[in-house]
Amino acid sequence: MEIRFKDTGIETLKTDLLMIPVAEKKLEEAAIRALDRRLKGKLQERIQRSRFSGVEGSSLLYSTAGALPASHLLLIGMGKATEIDAGTWRRAGARARREATTIGAQEIGVFFSPERDPAVAAGALVEGAQLASYQFNKYRSNAKDSSGVKTLTLCRPGLTRTAGMEQAVGFAEQVVAGVFLARDLINEPPSVTTARYLGEQAERHCRGRGLSVDVWGKKKIESMKLAGLLAVNRGSHEEPRFITIHYKPPGKPKKKVALIGKGITFDSGGLSLKQSKSMETMKLDMAGGAAVIAAMSRLPYLRPQVEVIGYIPTTDNLPGPNAQKPGDVIRYLNGKTIEVLNTDAEGRLILADALALAAKQKPDYMINLATLTGACMVALGTQVAGLFSNHQPLADSLMRCAQESGEKLWQLPLVKEYRDDIKSSVADIKNIGGGHGGAITAALILQEFVDDIPWAHLDIAGPAFTERDVPTCPKGGTGFGVRTLLKFLGTL
Ligand code: BES
Ligand code: MN
Ligand code: ZN
Repeated sequence: MEIRFKDTGIETLKTDLLMIPVAEKKLEEAAIRALDRRLKGKLQERIQRSRFSGVEGSSLLYSTAGALPASHLLLIGMGKATEIDAGTWRRAGARARREATTIGAQEIGVFFSPERDPAVAAGALVEGAQLASYQFNKYRSNAKDSSGVKTLTLCRPGLTRTAGMEQAVGFAEQVVAGVFLARDLINEPPSVTTARYLGEQAERHCRGRGLSVDVWGKKKIESMKLAGLLAVNRGSHEEPRFITIHYKPPGKPKKKVALIGKGITFDSGGLSLKQSKSMETMKLDMAGGAAVIAAMSRLPYLRPQVEVIGYIPTTDNLPGPNAQKPGDVIRYLNGKTIEVLNTDAEGRLILADALALAAKQKPDYMINLATLTGACMVALGTQVAGLFSNHQPLADSLMRCAQESGEKLWQLPLVKEYRDDIKSSVADIKNIGGGHGGAITAALILQEFVDDIPWAHLDIAGPAFTERDVPTCPKGGTGFGVRTLLKFLGTL
């Protein structure tokens, strides 16, 4: 989809679908009156009949039947004028794109006249419109392609494309490419997305200036003593992989950041086998790893002034003759030991390796993303990720970045007292807590492996996957995390 800016009145724009954002009680705006005059009062008539008032989420589609160069008008409710933000523009963009697909429009025009932050609005509008076009049709025999929209034209008399707008739109396009890659990786069937495949995909997509990829096979993993990854992999027929992606900026980096993503390509639970219903979506369990690969794949285009190292430990978690057993003990490279009482609490076992390895490089920040606990979904639902951190400025910054990106994060506490719940009778700690506060005890286990480096853990079990179609994403992997990560790296 090509993005254009045009200095023109909306009555003269020739397009298939002309979107007009309307704030609540702003139906008397000059632009609407001008259109209505051209339509001989019929637009106001329709507005009155439909009771469209500009409430957020409402819309009104009007066919001009040749009375205007635009064949359809789409009024989109933006809610209260004072509350319009990036999220409002993102949702509006998504709606316009969906409507365009429904009516078979190839060209979308937008009356673009935001009251403030035109760059933010333009970026969010384009991002929403692009995100809404995602489809995963590889395995459908009668797929309808929705990529019919060719252009999105932002227009208004006197509209000039500023460098800020240009930059915001360019950023949005890169972000969307990252989100789509993450979605693709998650949506692939789990027998396709194996650890080996994930390594190959990292090599394929993380190319270009400043990026390099290193994929370790089982032998190297053994020699590096990544005991958690090996333990989880024992039940599997597939070899594990440990993926490292390195980005070096031009010039001296301002900061060094480690991104760690959980890469369980399928979580059956292992010997602590899941029920079949809970297993249905467990191809999603590499969503954290997918977000890291996808975010890093955009860095040669976004060129942040920071060194970034991505770590993705990856394997499936299956029962098998050699599978690890409840009661087994893992000894980690930092000397710590974990007693495995539930093989379904496997994410923390492989993340421990990666966190310990990353910590050795002494990065300024470590951020891990993992579909770690069902408990986090109980706490925050399916749209909000849990944020845990040992460093409040880092947590605050991630909260801000997530907010601006349209991803929802909520901070949960690392309750020291709950460390008692992970005490083991034979090892330093055990891999499950006492039954309550499972998202917190999981985070406390990870914390054992980060030394005192500023660290944040995003438990994305809820928002990594949507069970139903939403405006910006069809059922399946969402690519959650990519947007926040890229925004965060840009702020350093
Ligand atoms: N991958 C799951 C967590 C999960 C559940 C992600 C649902 C997305 C949707 C994780 O490996 C897991 O199985 N966690 C267990 C931990 C328990 C055994 C302590 C859980 O949450 O039930
Ligand atoms: Mn599990
Ligand atoms: Zn898991």
